Amino acid sequence: MIYLDYAATTPLDPAVLEAMLPQLSDAHANPASDHGPGRRARLAVEQSRAKVARAIGAEVGEIIWTSGATESDNLAIKGALEFYGEAGGRAHIVTSRTEHKAVLDTCRYLETRGVRVTYLQPGPDGRVGAAQVIAALEPDTCLVTLMWVNNETGAINEVEPLAPLLAERGILFHVDAAQAVGRVPIDLSQTPISLMSMSAHKAYGPKGIGALFVRRRPRARLAPQLHGGGHEQGMRSGTLATHQIVGMGAAFELAAERREPDSAHALRLRAALLQSIGSLDGVFRNGGDGACVPHILNLSFEGVDGESLRAGLPGLAVSSGSACSAATQEPSYVLRALGRSDALAGASLRFSYGRGTDEADTREAGAAVAAEVLRLRELSPIWD
Ligand SMILES: Cc1ncc(COP(=O)(O)O)c(C=O)c1O
Repeated sequence: MIYLDYAATTPLDPAVLEAMLPQLSDAHANPASDHGPGRRARLAVEQSRAKVARAIGAEVGEIIWTSGATESDNLAIKGALEFYGEAGGRAHIVTSRTEHKAVLDTCRYLETRGVRVTYLQPGPDGRVGAAQVIAALEPDTCLVTLMWVNNETGAINEVEPLAPLLAERGILFHVDAAQAVGRVPIDLSQTPISLMSMSAHKAYGPKGIGALFVRRRPRARLAPQLHGGGHEQGMRSGTLATHQIVGMGAAFELAAERREPDSAHALRLRAALLQSIGSLDGVFRNGGDGACVPHILNLSFEGVDGESLRAGLPGLAVSSGSACSAATQEPSYVLRALGRSDALAGASLRFSYGRGTDEADTREAGAAVAAEVLRLRELSPIWD
């Protein structure tokens, strides 16, 4: 089986596993306990917090542990609206139609509570521009929430130029960076984002752990969404999962170190994949015309049924649309937002690859896809 689904989740890096193992055996104490083993667990948690902070140019106290990017998105968006919106009468959000469901469904929920939301339409290249966001602001806009890198197309939104424009207007800026860490340079000491969601398992770390960056200067305030023991500065209660946290720290340290070699490797893989599919006609690249990360390649194949295509490729682990949303068989809402027809959006494959993929894998995958598309077209009564 050739695994080309790194955007859904990455394998655990062996160095991450090695860092986690002792935390699963000997070091079992609760990091909130005030005795020797507890203090040692706390030290491990704080060292990991420092590693995550360093990887994104943040301060240690700006990292709040969560269970993943879904929870971080919920905490950031609901927490900010509850704190600022309802209190200050500012209840408008700007976001885009191609966000992850963790953002879109949270916005939809807030709409049921009276919040107004503007959903921006990205360009045909899949990107949302800074000027477009600024033009959508209203006097009561409280929050802009925009992903850094799209999980289906790899398109990079104009987050960096947008951040100072929002900061000077006093508008909170939340960024879902689940697909961005280790893929694009991130330095929050230079980019005035207010809140940023992260996930370990998209960057060779374990599943079930993530973090939310919450800026201290100027301070972004949130109403907690989980009430309990007051952990994480009162923003997210719950006993900390030391082993997961240590894994995320190790993964983010590696992500920062390996960003450039990993990107160069992904560029070579993408070239090999495109070359092996190369001679096929009726292939459309989704969202790859502007700035995009090299580790995601999304293609639509004209004249084939998407389900038959995927069923005909049992040796490939690839996705259509987003594996991270619930298992719907609907054509991708992201591709439809880019103007693709239902047929082309349905007949799409998202290839995503990384450290554990080699060029031979991508060539074999590309050749298998090309052969299957040709076979299905031969069988099709309407393909000419
Ligand atoms: C852009 C984006 N945001 C959020 C998520 C959710 O992350 P998690 O699985 O950590 O909850 C994902 C993937 O699942 C994603 O790709």
